Amino acid sequence: MVAKIKKAVIPVAGLGTRMLPATKAIPKELLPVFDRPIIEHVVKEAIAGGVTEIIFVTRSGKEAIENHFDAHYELEHRLERKGKETILGTVKNVVPEGIKIFSVRQSDALGLGHAVLCAKHLLNNEPFAVLLPDVLVLDQESRDNNYSFAQLVKAWDKTGTGQVMVERVQPDAVESYGIADLNGELAEPFKSQPVNGLVEKPSLKDAPSNLAVLGRYVLPSRVLELLESTTPGVGGEIQLTDALDELLKLEGLNALETDAEIHDCGNKQGFLGANLAVGMRDAETKSVIKKLFESNAW
Ligand code: UTP
Repeated sequence: MVAKIKKAVIPVAGLGTRMLPATKAIPKELLPVFDRPIIEHVVKEAIAGGVTEIIFVTRSGKEAIENHFDAHYELEHRLERKGKETILGTVKNVVPEGIKIFSVRQSDALGLGHAVLCAKHLLNNEPFAVLLPDVLVLDQESRDNNYSFAQLVKAWDKTGTGQVMVERVQPDAVESYGIADLNGELAEPFKSQPVNGLVEKPSLKDAPSNLAVLGRYVLPSRVLELLESTTPGVGGEIQLTDALDELLKLEGLNALETDAEIHDCGNKQGFLGANLAVGMRDAETKSVIKKLFESNAW
């Protein structure tokens, strides 16, 4: 029987240099997308996929992330006394009861692969998910939100094969992403298909497809062994992609295409786009945004 996905690693130890100066004192993961920190959207996504243990890989200066998911007794007490029940509901129990939050330190930003490896002792040889906290996966309005990640976990449940979520990007964007080679096969949304290879940031003419790996993974624990023997790659960092490339040779790896809107909140334009996209899903805010765009000022 395929082991269930109970644990998710969320690496938050990066420097967030593309978002400076906003991230000089504030972790980029706490910057708000509409009404809540981006990381809250991502943690909720993990929970919707059945995850019950969240492991933050963090570093000094980012303690506010853990605080966000902790109780704030004074604030709760004051809101309660003032009868501000609606606001109280948004700060109390940010995660449902029964969800455990752990954190582990990454002493130096040695890459995403290294960050995942820092969580090894908490993963207990179990399969796990990895969710990048600066990527917002906004599912189609006609679906349950967090549908895509839940489908990724389902694909694991069915196959026991590692899964990466991919999105179709514009041809001129392939150079910025890890691209999945699906052996010339055209993926269709939510069909999990074997990956033939992963190519990191290929030129357009060498790109095997336009399916970009976007920061949602469900992986067998074997990937941790592979990470241990992965030598530093691009930028002197231990790359998760390199270990995944090994994994697919040994036991295969599948890609699942999503048709969700993907917003890379790690850069200024993507972050702004995410705020507008989520804001447009709130009726009151939508009319404000529309008025602004229709006004002569813009
Ligand atoms: P990024 O490279 O997008 O994030 O890594 P960054 O380093 O924070 O941002 P820039 O490039 O300087 O603007 C993707 C995710 O992996 C985490 C980051 O926190 C981010 O969420 N990460 C990356 C780590 O936790 N440790 C690392 O060594 C590298």
